[in-house]
Amino acid sequence: MKRAYIETYGCQMNISDSELMAGILAEQGFVATDKPDDADVILVNTCAIRDHAEQRVIGRVGQLQEFRRQGAVIGVTGCMAQRMGESLLGRAGGVDLVMGPDAYRQLPGKLTDVASRRTPRPALPLAFGQHAPQQPRGLTVLGFDPHENYEGVAARRISSVSAWVPIQRGCNYRCTYCIVPYVRGDEKNRDPQAILDEVRALAADGVPEVTLLGQTVNSYEHGGWDFPRLLREVARVDGIRRVRFTSPHPNGFTRQLVEVMAEEPAVCKQLHLPVQSGHDRTLKRMLRRYTVAEYLEKIEWVRQAMPGIALSTDVIVGFPGETDEEYQATLELMRTVRYDDAFLYKYSERDGTPATRMPRDQFVPDEVGQARLEGLIATHRAIQAEIYRSEVGRVEEVLVEKEGRRGGLQGRTAGNKVVTFDGPAELIGYFADVKLVATTGATFSGELEHAMAAA
Ligand code: SAH
Ligand code: SF4
Ligand code: F3S
Repeated sequence: MKRAYIETYGCQMNISDSELMAGILAEQGFVATDKPDDADVILVNTCAIRDHAEQRVIGRVGQLQEFRRQGAVIGVTGCMAQRMGESLLGRAGGVDLVMGPDAYRQLPGKLTDVASRRTPRPALPLAFGQHAPQQPRGLTVLGFDPHENYEGVAARRISSVSAWVPIQRGCNYRCTYCIVPYVRGDEKNRDPQAILDEVRALAADGVPEVTLLGQTVNSYEHGGWDFPRLLREVARVDGIRRVRFTSPHPNGFTRQLVEVMAEEPAVCKQLHLPVQSGHDRTLKRMLRRYTVAEYLEKIEWVRQAMPGIALSTDVIVGFPGETDEEYQATLELMRTVRYDDAFLYKYSERDGTPATRMPRDQFVPDEVGQARLEGLIATHRAIQAEIYRSEVGRVEEVLVEKEGRRGGLQGRTAGNKVVTFDGPAELIGYFADVKLVATTGATFSGELEHAMAAA
């Protein structure tokens, strides 16, 4: 029996892909292990969204060489594997397999191939002047498959409380900063019946929460089904108590979708709606295809239909050509919307994306980008802390997910806010009414009021 260890970087889609890979490997008799030390196969499932994400992986593959020297096979999968291809084979000491996101069904076969090609390490320590046997060059499996949605693969999920359900792969947008379309290919949508079957099976297993995943999840369409219809049907599956989805694109975020969110009790009153910038000129250079006014109008619809809804977003500062005025407009937007949570980034240049072809003299110097990021973080954190402090004292329904890092339990509110509190481990997987008693400004600590049954 071969033991496989998978380490995941990047977004929820990548976590979900790792769960699919684990399922594919399990079907072929691989056993999962949670540490690289005793693994025969080590997979690093990577992200290419920013340079920093890639540097971390290179560093990690370097560290993992220790296990490779002892005989483990190292595979690099995911977005960075697709982006770098062949050139990854010789990086950081060496990689045996480089595999893109559409090829995971071939994992067991290719892993066996590379393992059988490797020369066994010598039983005795190397004598002075003797070299370790040269290992053959690794394999690459790249390229897109427009029909691969991993239908029929039983994902091996990490959590039995909250499940990622991919409904779409790839992306048809071409935001000028973004590498995703080049590493994941064009948008493809799963069959709605297959999605609903999966959600029903999860509910039957006692999983109360699902999050529907896609890069532009609301552009979902398949044989007459659109996203609002799918969301409604998923929300009505017996036993599913909470439905979330990420990430919708502001385009195609329709009144009809807002209605479904408002009408279906199982849809969490929480929305992640990436804005990227608060200035129309920047949005235009980013090719986001909406204006600030259009974005704010959608936020208005949502807040009118669902007062108190928790909002989050993604923002990039330091995009090529961003003036101080444009940056200030982004801060203004943060103060206007007042997000409960935000993922804030400094622009990172990605080879091959359209933004790299903008005039070099318009690129924002790194120090300026860094200062803008720090200013944005400070602005957001102050607002977030105000919002969190204003919620202390409330009693919230918390879905208990796991034991907390510092003891006790940890779960999330419908608004997707993390709460830690003391309680028995038996509550994991169940809902509990928890009084929010204190906040760090970005998480809560609470006190258990009542525990409730799962379904
Ligand atoms: N499909 C999602 C985003 C996926 S990437 C959407 O369209 O909303 C997650 C976030 O990473 C993006 O929303 C963006 O804010 C950030 N990001 C993407 N490319 C980036 C880059 N080149 N530099 C910095 N941040 C980037
Ligand atoms: Fe990237 Fe834009 Fe597609 Fe999101 S919508 S994945 S930011 S290209
Ligand atoms: Fe990263 Fe790929 Fe997700 S580039 S953000 S892991 S789709």
